[in-house]
Amino acid sequence: MCGIVGAVAQRNVYGILIEGLRRLEYRGYDSAGVSIIDSTHTLQTRKTHGKVAALEHAVAENPVSGRTGIAHTRWATHGEPSTVNSHPHTSGGVAVVHNGIIENHQALRTELLDAGYYFSSETDSEVIAHLVHRALIKTLNLREAVTQVLPRLDGAYALVVVSDDAPGELVGARSGSPLVMGIGVEELFVASDQMALRQVTDRFIFLQEGDLFELTNTGFRLFDESGASVERPVQQLTERDRVVDKGAYRHFMQKEIFEQPTVLAATTAGRIGTDYLREAIFGYRADALFGEAAAVQLVACGTSFHSALVAKHWIEAYAGIPCLVEVASEYRYRDVAVIDNTLFVSISQSGETADTLAALRKAQTLGYLGFLAICNVANSSLVRESDAALMTEAGPEVGVASTKAFTTQLVALQLLCIALAKHRQLPIEKERTLIRHLHALPTLCAEMLALNSQIERVSEAFANKQHALYLGRGEHYAVALEGALKLKEISYIHAEAYPAGELKHGPLALVDEEMPVIAVAPNNELLEKLKSNLHEVRARGGQIFVFADRDAGFLSESGMTVIDMPRVPKSLEAILYSVPLQLLAYHVALLKGTDVDQPRNLAKSVTVE
Ligand code: M6R
Repeated sequence: MCGIVGAVAQRNVYGILIEGLRRLEYRGYDSAGVSIIDSTHTLQTRKTHGKVAALEHAVAENPVSGRTGIAHTRWATHGEPSTVNSHPHTSGGVAVVHNGIIENHQALRTELLDAGYYFSSETDSEVIAHLVHRALIKTLNLREAVTQVLPRLDGAYALVVVSDDAPGELVGARSGSPLVMGIGVEELFVASDQMALRQVTDRFIFLQEGDLFELTNTGFRLFDESGASVERPVQQLTERDRVVDKGAYRHFMQKEIFEQPTVLAATTAGRIGTDYLREAIFGYRADALFGEAAAVQLVACGTSFHSALVAKHWIEAYAGIPCLVEVASEYRYRDVAVIDNTLFVSISQSGETADTLAALRKAQTLGYLGFLAICNVANSSLVRESDAALMTEAGPEVGVASTKAFTTQLVALQLLCIALAKHRQLPIEKERTLIRHLHALPTLCAEMLALNSQIERVSEAFANKQHALYLGRGEHYAVALEGALKLKEISYIHAEAYPAGELKHGPLALVDEEMPVIAVAPNNELLEKLKSNLHEVRARGGQIFVFADRDAGFLSESGMTVIDMPRVPKSLEAILYSVPLQLLAYHVALLKGTDVDQPRNLAKSVTVE
């Protein structure tokens, strides 16, 4: 999704801005641009449709340099991906980069047209440039001008403004979209994600909702929503938070799939003893809530929603309390009836997903028992706005298709489930078994990854397919949903997932010789039921690919390809069976030649509605 970088320094900032944009490329974007105030105090803007490399090419042909500048990668919402619609948007000597959506842009556009302003783009963001320009003519002060404009904007924004009337100055604000300030030695930066600035600083201030900042050659000032001057804590980030490179891997997604044994172990490290869950891993405040919780509400989007669907099975089976699961974009807009003493748990890799944040904020008005976040990014809005958080220790996930974030979420959710169950007389033997299994998880995950070559061969059967059907039962319906999401995201093959028992209620009509049907078949109490469902597929000529426990009694034959899976404990099935489905999607995408790490139309962190 859109990315922002800005810098005020005693040196040319162009290189800093471009490197920052490169580091945000993984988030997904369709165009890029930069505005710099040059040494003659003239605003210089270059923008291009396409990749950051295309922008660099444009700047090489028409160079630009200066000590104050802003840059942006755009992910189209209003107006097609194109050079004119890309940011920065300018009005006279004012340039603006903006993440988010200005919902009242049409009314503002009409007002500005009436006032004589000319619009060169179809975007909602361009109104900000003109509004600031108009205010600046009256106030002659950039911060004052931005302060006057903000109340006119409905919707979500992170924005940064420069003006050739105020060289050496950056002014910006956040409301609904993240912004972070970076503090260097006699230089200051701003970005939508700290990753963009790690090459220049490791000291950050994470701006809070409603904050406005002013960065100059000599220092910075922060103001809260009410306009009062505020101080925010400076956070020193560690080496661990740095964005990593692909190493010997071809894609980030591939690297992230193969990192899973390590990050799964990192997510349990320090949280489990030899055979028991350590105390207060969610904090003592959360522990107190666990005893009182009569129900759990899980809310998330995309892959994180799938981890919630798995967790529902665990929470109801192990802790014996009702667990409700809902996608955040639905939850946030309906009238919700809350069961007394329900614990609200939001799940997110990024902690900045607009719908998940909005759901949390709505829930905070509804009388829940407390708010817990399962998240991969410390300092994210979701973590800061929740009562307690358990971090997944997946490390930075760069591939748009989530892999290691999913499996580490499942581990975190299983720890939550055990914590809840312990407050409800979980037998000690059961706790021991669950924890011992978690200790075995990294090794078992490595066994799953050893299936890579076999899955690569199987993937050839999918390269020319238009559709695929994924089936699972119980918690493996959620695993099937996640497998189907991976395939469609990166290979662009239409994939759907069904609880296998639903097949004859409709989707069976889709099955013919052209339809690959992928089944998730661990050796559990639902295996025989699943086998019956697969007979129905075979009878209609469907091509079955079954990921089956080696003791499940499947044999490869015409129309049936069996991928033999290692024997795994029931409590780990969902985590481990997800891994070969990630590999399958990855290999199919390779055969199809798609952009694996940045699939079309998608963004890593969905910070707008
Ligand atoms: O950062 P989040 O976990 O909140 O993101 C939620 C979804 O946008 C995300 O899982 C998305 O579905 C991924 N592209 C899936 O691979």
